[in-house]
Amino acid sequence: MTSPQPLAKGLRNVVMDTTESSFIDGDEGILLYRGYSIHDLAAHSSFEEVCYLLLYGSLPTRDELAALDARLRAARVLPAPVVDVIRIVQRAHPIDVLRTAVSALAAFDPDTADASLDAVLRKSERLTAQFPTIVAAHDRIRRGLEPVPPRDDLSHAANFLYMLAGEAPSDEAAAAMDLDFILHAEHGANASAFAARVTASTDSDLHSAIVTGIGTLKGPLHGGAAEAVMTMALEIGSPERAHDYVIARQKDRNNRIMGFGHRVYKVEDPRARHMRERSKALGESLNQAQWYAILQAVEKEMERYKRHGIHVNVDFFAGSVYYLLGIPEDLFVPIFALGRIPGWCTEILEQLNNNILIRPLLRYDGPLNLEYVPLEQR
Ligand code: ACO
Repeated sequence: MTSPQPLAKGLRNVVMDTTESSFIDGDEGILLYRGYSIHDLAAHSSFEEVCYLLLYGSLPTRDELAALDARLRAARVLPAPVVDVIRIVQRAHPIDVLRTAVSALAAFDPDTADASLDAVLRKSERLTAQFPTIVAAHDRIRRGLEPVPPRDDLSHAANFLYMLAGEAPSDEAAAAMDLDFILHAEHGANASAFAARVTASTDSDLHSAIVTGIGTLKGPLHGGAAEAVMTMALEIGSPERAHDYVIARQKDRNNRIMGFGHRVYKVEDPRARHMRERSKALGESLNQAQWYAILQAVEKEMERYKRHGIHVNVDFFAGSVYYLLGIPEDLFVPIFALGRIPGWCTEILEQLNNNILIRPLLRYDGPLNLEYVPLEQR
């Protein structure tokens, strides 16, 4: 019998491959997409440009960006049968509807079974363009309204908000959504990208790998945190009540404060500062400063956790931004997926480019050599 292998529970600190997509330094709080600082991208870029950067590996020229933008705009419309599927499953959670709709899209994509680089890029662009249409169409359908067809004269972020509300968003709202998508676009071997890579590593197709990613994102320890944070803010109700809330939660060690802590960042998540600024600015301009004030009060109560490396993550302020944009809480996870889709596709492309089946081991901890007892003697 072989000797016991060392355990890497949760694959913590395991480096499973190389990547050129994102660089993360969790001790210094650094995040780069293809070498570019998240802070520069947040300040100067657009989601469309970040999509190009991630999928094609470099910043686009003006013409390259215009061409990608045109392809994305042209690919926004869903096949009618996929809208029918959304109608059928409309009572499900929006992230489950997104997962189901992506599965259904595989039946209509001309490239589903084509694993060539060009085909995977075409599918990546199409899924990036189709995601917002799915989420917005579902939200309209479940409210008894007809889906709003996408507008090809609006940016990716503005068109999403337009399809949700049926009217064009303010520049401030569109910019907040665009920023959110940029910040969520890519993040190394996070749980959902890892899961997508596992599926891709079996030489399965892109749609299947993305379905895996969506299912993995759903959990509150990953993409579900923003929704949980806003639920918490609503429950707290006013900044003065934050102290009692945090103390009460801490009585049970299993009760984590959502939006805090990260597997990789042991200092503040570099993405959080941009959502913090946006949450504050939006709250002030919409005369709803209380949400930011409540979150700030929670952050203050959590100060003592900093010495344990637990700081706010990107999702701590994201929920309040979505809430201020008038977005229902159960759309927060799908919105994370809308931002993350180019990152998932990029990770899958990297996996396919130099593939090896991802297949770790488990250490068996059960009994050995038990005597089989026939059913009639048990
Ligand atoms: N509140 C209170 N304590 C916490 C928190 C938190 N949010 N996060 C971690 N801790 C504590 C744990 O209780 C544990 O304490 P212990 O060692 O005394 O038992 C210690 O910190 C380490 O926690 P682990 O769960 O082992 O760390 P891990 O790296 O596995 O967890 C995770 C990372 C899952 C994100 C965790 O911090 C958490 O549950 N956070 C809340 C959920 C959340 O905000 N998720 C979003 C992550 S960001 C994203 O997906 C974009």
